[in-house]
Order: sequence, then structure tokens, then C-alpha cells
Amino acid sequence: MSEKKWPAWLPLRQDLQPLSPYGAPQVPAEATLNTNENPYAPSPELAKAISDRIHQVALNLNRYPDRDAVLLRKSLAAFINNLSSTSFNADQIWAANGSNEIIQSLFMAFGDRQTLGFTPSYSMHPLIAKVIGVQWVDGGRRPDFSLDLEQAVKQISQEKPSLTFITTPNNPTGTVISLDEIAVLAEAAARVNGLLVVDEAYAEFSNLPSAVTLIKKYPNLIVIRTMSKAFAFAGARLGYLIADPEIVSAMFLVRLPYHLSSLTQAAAEVALEFQAELLGTVSSLIDAREFVTSELEKMGLQVVPSQANFILFTGFRLEQGQLWRQLLDRGVLIRDVGLLGHLRMTIGNEAENRKFIAALQEILNGESQ
Ligand SMILES: Cc1ncc(COP(=O)(O)O)c(C=O)c1O
Repeated sequence: MSEKKWPAWLPLRQDLQPLSPYGAPQVPAEATLNTNENPYAPSPELAKAISDRIHQVALNLNRYPDRDAVLLRKSLAAFINNLSSTSFNADQIWAANGSNEIIQSLFMAFGDRQTLGFTPSYSMHPLIAKVIGVQWVDGGRRPDFSLDLEQAVKQISQEKPSLTFITTPNNPTGTVISLDEIAVLAEAAARVNGLLVVDEAYAEFSNLPSAVTLIKKYPNLIVIRTMSKAFAFAGARLGYLIADPEIVSAMFLVRLPYHLSSLTQAAAEVALEFQAELLGTVSSLIDAREFVTSELEKMGLQVVPSQANFILFTGFRLEQGQLWRQLLDRGVLIRDVGLLGHLRMTIGNEAENRKFIAALQEILNGESQ
């Protein structure tokens, strides 16, 4: 995107002027495979349960919501405890409108020194930092996108960040790091009085245990999760963090009063009651990821090993923007994440995946003629 020219009369902050807004294209396509959502819609039973609960809440909409979302935070704690055999309470959980708001709150609370992340990773970490006015340092990864742990530890001790971000499985690469590696990063962060933020937006698709199991030992470790991906609830906007109660207390300082509407809280509580249904598609999405990967490899493409619900692939001769456009012309919307020679595709339902594979095959056949 070319840089926008702002009018001289507008007193927009200097540091915001060169930034571009988050802009995953929202264009109609037969196969929408660009924002890592779960392709399976809620069942009519779940939709009805949500509208029944919303109806109850609607009768009280003249009142502000529960400012601290206690019921929801209790339910989220129970959900995590069940998943990871932990014993968190509501005071170790914070919930907000998507994990993006959680990330924003972390920068607002802890952003008085520079912050660090290992790119390529989730593009909103640095963008939210910059919008809040927090300094961001790009740490690197190896050319194969794996994390160089020794280098990462060195960067933490040099930069002394108040917040270090690590995303696992990483977006846009799908690569993971182990709990042992996370522990090493948490220790390195603790040595500089910093916090380690583990963004687990895609954790349900991975076979590795969640870093929540490390929080007891490393109180400077924060785990971010979301209901937008595996949980198939992106439209409701619900993200949360699990952390030491002192970190959660800091969230109360920076949140806006009544930030989480009664409607959102009610919908998320119902969704948690239907967790078996909502997470029921995860294993078939993992199978589909393996299927799409092998189909792409048969075409001679290379796929970065992914433990998420998307894959990053390379090995095509067309310029990545051209391939992206040609796929869209065939009704398939995937994502150009700005990585030279690479494109990212979200695993969709069976028909969408087949459409993507057929369209890609057609384009590549044309490429080799
Ligand atoms: C790694 C990562 N973290 C956080 C988010 C934000 O998710 P949400 O705000 O929908 O919870 C995303 C969305 O793509 C993501 O990829």
C-alpha cells in the first residue's frame, strides 16, 4: 500500500503518519482463506442458545455490563484448567474484545521501555506498539523461520525489553517452539525485569502443551489466547490472557470502563458451554492441513512445517502478488503477508481446499508452459 498523504490541517501524531492501517482485504470470494478463521459456522442449536441468552441480557441493556466480567473469567479459567490440568482462578484471567485488545492493553500497561518480537510474526504486535507510542525492536529468525534461541536470549539481554513477544504456533509461518525454549526465554526476560508474552492464538491446532503450565514457575510469563480461531467464534470478538494476578491487576488500570459488553460476555459464556461442538472441527482441520500440504508438495512447492490452521508456501515462479491475484480471479482469496516468494493459505472446508488446490494447479500448469 502506498503511503497516505495526510492534509496539513489535521493534527495527526507525527509517528502515526507513515503507518498503514491493518488491512486484510475483505472482498467477496468463493473460498475465503485469508484470515485464519475456522470455516465451520455454529450449529443452529448454538445460534439459538446464543440468541436466547442475548434476549435475557437485552432485557437489561439499560444497565452497564459487569465491569469485571467475573462469570466469563471464571468460565475461561475452568476451560483452561480442563485443557491443561491447571488450577487458575478468575483473578489470573483477563478478557477483552479479541486478543488484539489484550495486546493493546499489555503495551499500555508495560510499554515504558522498548518491546521485542521475532519477525516474521504477527504483524499487529509491532503495529499496535507503534500506535500506542511504544518502541518496538524486530528480533530475527533463521532463514527457515525457526527461532534461533541463543540469538533470541542475546537480544533480550541487550535490548532489555519490558515485553518480549513470541507466537507459537507462529503466524504467518505455522512453526512452533517447545516449552523448554519458552522457559529459557522467560528466564532471559526475568533477568532484565521483563515479561514474556506467549501468543497462543493457534495453540489448539498444535500437539504441544500450552505454556500456561509454566506460569506457576515463571510469574513473568503471560499467555494470550483467543476464541477467534479454533474456537470458531471470530465474529463475537473475545480474547483473553492467563497470567499472574499482579499482571491481571495491571489490566484493570488500562482497560476502558465496561469495555466488554453484556452481549459479548453472554455470547462467550454460551460458546464455552458449547466448547465440544466448537472445538470439534479441530482434528479434521489438522487432517485437512496435512492433505493440502501433501497436494502442494506433489506440485513441487515447499510448505513450511505448520502446526496451525494455515500454511505458508513457496517455490512458485510467479511474483507472489501476481499469484495472489490469479487465485482471486478464480474465486480463491488467500493472503500475501509481504514475505518475498511466499503466500499464506488458511485451511478451509473440504470444498474450499479443493478449489484452492485446483486453482493453484491450473495457474502453475500455465506457468510452466
Ligand atoms: C498470532 C495472533 N494473535 C492474535 C490475533 C488476533 O486475534 P483476535 O483479536 O481475533 O483474538 C491473531 C489474528 O489473526 C493472530 O494471528
